[in-house]
Amino acid sequence: MSDDLAPTPVPDAAPPHRRRVRYSGKNPRRFEDKYKEHDPQRYAETVAKVIASGKTPAGTHRPIMVAEVLDVLAPRPGDVAADCTLGYGGHAQALLARLLPGGRLLGLDADPLELPKTEARLRAAGFGPDVFTAHRSNFAGLPQVLAAAGLTGVDLLLADLGVSSMQIDDPARGFSVKFNGPLDMRMNPSRGQPASALLEKIRPEKLAELLRENADEPHAEELATVLAGKTFRTTTVLANAIGAALPRLDRDAADLAVRRVFQALRIAVNDEFSALDTWLRHLPACLNPGGRVAVLTFHSGEDRRVKKAFTAGQRDGVFAVIADDVIRPTPAERYANPRSTPAKLRWARRAAN
Ligand SMILES: C[S@@+](CC[C@H](N)C(=O)[O-])C[C@H]1O[C@@H](n2cnc3c(N)ncnc32)[C@H](O)[C@@H]1O
Repeated sequence: MSDDLAPTPVPDAAPPHRRRVRYSGKNPRRFEDKYKEHDPQRYAETVAKVIASGKTPAGTHRPIMVAEVLDVLAPRPGDVAADCTLGYGGHAQALLARLLPGGRLLGLDADPLELPKTEARLRAAGFGPDVFTAHRSNFAGLPQVLAAAGLTGVDLLLADLGVSSMQIDDPARGFSVKFNGPLDMRMNPSRGQPASALLEKIRPEKLAELLRENADEPHAEELATVLAGKTFRTTTVLANAIGAALPRLDRDAADLAVRRVFQALRIAVNDEFSALDTWLRHLPACLNPGGRVAVLTFHSGEDRRVKKAFTAGQRDGVFAVIADDVIRPTPAERYANPRSTPAKLRWARRAAN
């Protein structure tokens, strides 16, 4: 499953200067025009205002439950960590600050578009290749990534599941119902098939099953009959078709159905459950004795799998301790960053031998 296991080379030349795109009105509205938000180092004041309004600046990601993750992983100087979902690098940066001196962090991500940007940002923040390496890999390939790095295990593992704000907010990636774009949804656009192709080829019974299993969709059969085998080139065309297929629902209920269908398709397109199951199976072997793992999940399909794997690991004696219950974001974090609202944190500690 893993892609290129070698660390991604850092671009060493500055990108050529490009003239900024003109936009109408006082403030840019389109993702790609929000050049100040894309450059938080340079435009800190604008970015702080966007964050204060409860939004995520375009092209960035706000890490969730950082204090809680640090608390359960308890990183110490000299520890070796793997952040299996590097994303924008927010959790990685917080971990690195605690691992040094003497420690190191491997960052994995399946996204070949965002990974080099994050690697360059962490380099610019002062983390050289001796302490931080970036690996373009599905986390299902964690054992191979560790072996290629000469490691038999790590002290700390983190997975912050799902997609990042950079991916969701970029209309060109086709993840979000809020922005019109090609119906793609692939974290790695050079692998697998876009959501549009999946819908075109799938049979209604298979789509109904996928909607039920990936998003507990109560209208799975009705929707599958209308959507399977059809061509939907853009996110907006699909969202409208879902609304039209459920005329009895009020606006809010129809919006929820649209979100569930998008979630189910994203999970299918990226084979997310099978990657998570594989990673959970490899977990104990990838952790050093006494090592800690933390997982942030965002819907019940993910949390069920993590809970089951941790409980089985404790029963078998592989994990000495596991979280009694999930840890949720504080009301203050949910208010400041509404995208944190569904997050659930679970953790486990490997037995000492
Ligand atoms: C929620 S974001 C992580 C954000 C990160 N913790 C931060 O602080 O910026 C999830 C990231 O995991 C990546 N991802 C999701 N599933 C993956 C998988 N199976 N293998 C590797 N990366 C994956 C996505 O591409 C995305 O960048």
